[in-house]
Amino acid sequence: MRVAMIGTGYVGLVSGACFADFGHDVCCIDKDARKIERLKAGEIPIFEPGLDALVERNVREGRLSFSVQADEAVRSADAVFIAVGTPSRRGDGYADLSYVHAAAEEIAGLMDGFTVVVTKSTVPVGTGDEIEAIIRKANPNADFAVVSNPEFLREGAAIEDFKRPDRIVVGTEDERARAVMNELYRPLFLNETPIVFTGRRTSELIKYAANAFLALKITFINEIADLCEAVGADVQQVARGIGLDKRIGNKFLNAGPGYGGSCFPKDTIALVRTAQDAGTPVRLIETTVEINDARKKAMAGRVADVLEGDLNGKTIGVLGLTFKPNTDDMRDAPSLDIVPALQAMGATVQAFDPEGHEARQMLAGVDFKAGPYEAVEGADAVVIITEWDQFRALDLDRVKQLMKSPNVVDLRNIYRPDDMKARGFRYSSIGRG
Ligand code: UDX
Repeated sequence: MRVAMIGTGYVGLVSGACFADFGHDVCCIDKDARKIERLKAGEIPIFEPGLDALVERNVREGRLSFSVQADEAVRSADAVFIAVGTPSRRGDGYADLSYVHAAAEEIAGLMDGFTVVVTKSTVPVGTGDEIEAIIRKANPNADFAVVSNPEFLREGAAIEDFKRPDRIVVGTEDERARAVMNELYRPLFLNETPIVFTGRRTSELIKYAANAFLALKITFINEIADLCEAVGADVQQVARGIGLDKRIGNKFLNAGPGYGGSCFPKDTIALVRTAQDAGTPVRLIETTVEINDARKKAMAGRVADVLEGDLNGKTIGVLGLTFKPNTDDMRDAPSLDIVPALQAMGATVQAFDPEGHEARQMLAGVDFKAGPYEAVEGADAVVIITEWDQFRALDLDRVKQLMKSPNVVDLRNIYRPDDMKARGFRYSSIGRG
């Protein structure tokens, strides 16, 4: 199959490279000429484990190419994927569909022969109808079908998630489109991956419902963690105790500083807006959003607590800035709330993150260090915000020696309280009363 992928952001690039690896002929298109130049030169603009090798191999074997021009690729494509950004619209939280609409306009004039237009971008219910109307208006003779095919890729594990998904969701009622989608994902049928064919609106909603449910699950365990602290219980054991119940499941029950990232924060708010507009508010999700925002803001207080409420003139060492490990993504990262709050309370912040280079532009006044030991040196307290593997195996005696006072606030529960106590740290973590 021939695939044109519009948008070489996170989703477009991973999906394009994986489809090429399945054996399809893929052209990834982006308006950003510099990005395309870099990709052509073999440079991957994002940090995603395994992506560089995957791109390199598929380019070398002639199945993957990059272009700023959509013309040729769209004209010859069996399927054109729209994988452009749908950020939160400033001010009101609705998903900003301007890039999606622009892509639809562009595709409309280029399609030749029956073409399946697939939305990979996360789009509100009804967007498929809008895309269809835009294309129909711009090119009344076009032979096409618009399909919803949401992605469920976790950053840091995106290739694995693409190649071994729990399910594939395809929203279309068009038989020809269904055949094309079947063919595109055929390599996955060998692993018996379930494919859920459904209506387009249903498919669009599945994506939001999945993300909202996961955000809700995390928020639930975060609140239980607070309760554990108050009553002297251990949230990790609670999570295990409930997670073994198959109806609940053990995933996404890690208590922490609140969820961040490119999806949960924006998708939960967009779902709230859709539901309000439809006259059926999703109050559970409205509350989830509120609790999570407040939680991220409250985390700096935990650091103040270990220093008797006074951060004035104190040095805080921060380990981890990205919203989760194995990504360089800083979008809605808890660190963006925590670090400025520490500074507002009078602390000086020195920080290290293995990949969060963008933090330098986003966090003013922070002293960025070259490694974890440099970041803890001379600190009155250390706070672990992101659970990078390399922080799990630190030489703790060295850490203690380097710090001014051995206070550790572990917002990801990567260490054991009894062990930290035995090593002479004053240690606080999440939900382990
Ligand atoms: C998410 C979805 O998992 C994915 O299916 C969707 O397509 C895009 O959004 P991603 O944002 O990459 O993926 O990361 P994810 O692993 O889901 O984590 C999101 C946030 O939740 C992170 O801030 C993470 O630290 C937090 N989290 C996750 C927890 O606090 N506890 C958990 O148990 C799991």
